Amino acid sequence: MESKPEIKLGLEGVYFTESEICKVDGINGKLYYYGYSIETLAENSNFEETCFLLLNGRLPDESELSAFRKTLASERELPAEIVSVIRASARTANAMDLLRSTFSMLSLYDKDANDNSEEANMRKSIRFMSKIASITAAIGSFRQGREYVKPDSSMGHVENFLYMLNGKKPMAEEVKILDLMFLLHAEHSSNASTFSGIVTASTLSDLHSSITSAIGTLKGPLHGGADEAALHMMHAIGSPENTEAYINDALAGKKKIMGFGHRVYKTYDPRARIIKRRLEELRGSADEEVKNLTNIALAAEKLMIDKLGASHGIWPNVDFFSGPVYTDLGIPDYLFTPMFAVSRVPGWCAHIMQYWKSNRLVRPLEYYNGEIDRKYVPIEGR
Ligand SMILES: CC(C)(COP(=O)(O)OP(=O)(O)OC[C@H]1O[C@@H](n2cnc3c(N)ncnc32)[C@H](O)[C@@H]1OP(=O)(O)O)[C@@H](O)C(=O)NCCC(=O)NCCS
Repeated sequence: MESKPEIKLGLEGVYFTESEICKVDGINGKLYYYGYSIETLAENSNFEETCFLLLNGRLPDESELSAFRKTLASERELPAEIVSVIRASARTANAMDLLRSTFSMLSLYDKDANDNSEEANMRKSIRFMSKIASITAAIGSFRQGREYVKPDSSMGHVENFLYMLNGKKPMAEEVKILDLMFLLHAEHSSNASTFSGIVTASTLSDLHSSITSAIGTLKGPLHGGADEAALHMMHAIGSPENTEAYINDALAGKKKIMGFGHRVYKTYDPRARIIKRRLEELRGSADEEVKNLTNIALAAEKLMIDKLGASHGIWPNVDFFSGPVYTDLGIPDYLFTPMFAVSRVPGWCAHIMQYWKSNRLVRPLEYYNGEIDRKYVPIEGR
């Protein structure tokens, strides 16, 4: 009899490829995009420049960045058929379902859809960044009872996103904060959604199909859906004074606290540390709801670190503090995960294009533990 092999549930600890795009140092709480630390990029760069870095492996010069921004701006408009689908479903559909479905539809209107050349994949990657932002903004706009706002090519990527979402030009400070949030979410090595995109790509399917897989994977609360779930928890807690009782009850009931813990980071997620700085500022917010959520988040963070931080390696991750920051920007909770997709597209595309350079079909093994040669009993005899 065949001996049972060692099984790595969830592929935990398994290396499946190599890449210079991103390093997640889970022991020291460090993150690098192409060798640049996330702190360096957060301090000095912006989302558009970081997208160029992820797609090209180097920072752009001025003319390259300007051309990149122009291409992004020129790709924002959506096919009318897709706008109609969003208009018809935005009020009732789950926003991630609608994003996944309409993103997939883009292939029907893309002349490059089945061109798998490097040039076409680069064109599609940039196009996806623009169009996924427009789809997400349109979902938000229709769901809030407004019409489709046409993109404005004179605006930057994040400014235009907020403009299409809210129908008014955002303030510079709002653009700056959301730009940072996008930059922090742009890439994270072989996480579940990136891996699922690579699995699809490894069959030599196309980039639309691969990114559609990634969006579906991001939806889950153990991955991209955690930010919305964390905000719901903060609402359920209600006030900073209730935080301790709520967390104690949840942990006693073996419930997970969303926005904490990570497969790779066994220390503070460096992205959460950067977002926390914004929360410190929001403590003084004039908006009572934002102030309350912020104080709950900071109280929960302290409690969880005391209880599970050093002892269990369960620390805040990138999703924990996003809720109060997005609420302060007036962004509704159902858009949190779609916005995660908007910011992760460059990372997904960079990894897929790189994987294709030395493609190998992803096809792991499953150990069969069932019976063999069972006797077939006709239906009338069962
Ligand atoms: C992200 C996550 C799936 C990674 O965890 P993992 O490597 O699969 O580890 P497990 O889920 O097996 O957790 C290991 C132990 O820590 C506990 N744990 C992990 N995350 C926890 C959390 N957020 N709250 C409470 N306990 C947690 C588990 O209950 C488990 O305890 P046990 O050994 O007593 O059963 C997990 O931490 C989680 O579910 N977090 C909440 C969702 C989230 O924030 N996701 C976004 C990630 S960026």
